[in-house]
Amino acid sequence: MSNTHPINVVALISGRGSNLQSLINAQQQGKLNVEFSSVISNRDDAAGLQFCERANIPTTVINHTLFKDRLSYDKELIKEIDRHNPYLIILAGFMRILSPEFVAHYSGRLVNIHPSLLPNFKGLHTHQQALDAEATEHGASVHFVTEELDGGPILMQTAVKVKESDDADTLSQRVLKQEHKLYPAAVQLIAERRVELKNGKLYVDDSELKQPLRI
Ligand code: GAR
Repeated sequence: MSNTHPINVVALISGRGSNLQSLINAQQQGKLNVEFSSVISNRDDAAGLQFCERANIPTTVINHTLFKDRLSYDKELIKEIDRHNPYLIILAGFMRILSPEFVAHYSGRLVNIHPSLLPNFKGLHTHQQALDAEATEHGASVHFVTEELDGGPILMQTAVKVKESDDADTLSQRVLKQEHKLYPAAVQLIAERRVELKNGKLYVDDSELKQPLRI
């Protein structure tokens, strides 16, 4: 592991949190040079909150049902996130559409994992979408977040072959296993300060990224 200072991160979750868990595991194994200053959930029953406590990571719940609209929720979220002054905000199964104000506020510092080989299969039910389209390959992407839903510049992807016997469950399980390798790898590259978003384009080691990296 590099001896540079860990980057300060805030992660946002809504539920199970298995991607967050994979990031925490990687950090604890010395493979991910980050410090989690906070994990925020929009739901108080998010299972992911429990292992944060075990890992001594502070958690906050900001319940979206208590806000009158998306913007007032996002403003509160910004206030809470900015208290920690993070280098990077990690969306890990945060199942909310973000306002343009939120996205602009964190331009170049906001990443998401999405369960498809973007730009294919944006939105929900991506595994079923892939099966319906008779895709032979499916996977997951880590991308920077822009105003376009699931449309920001893609840093890294991982692919799995679709089997004839697959249904949405079996396919999602295989993709999720890969997600757990992909997200730590992508975030580590960012933690090494090797990634930059400039004018909507991604640069890795100062060279423009023409194709997403693959693991
Ligand atoms: C993951 O498969 C993630 O890629 C997906 O939600 C799941 C969260 O699981 N995210 C999206 O669909 C975002 N558009 P987790 O809570 O166990 O990490």
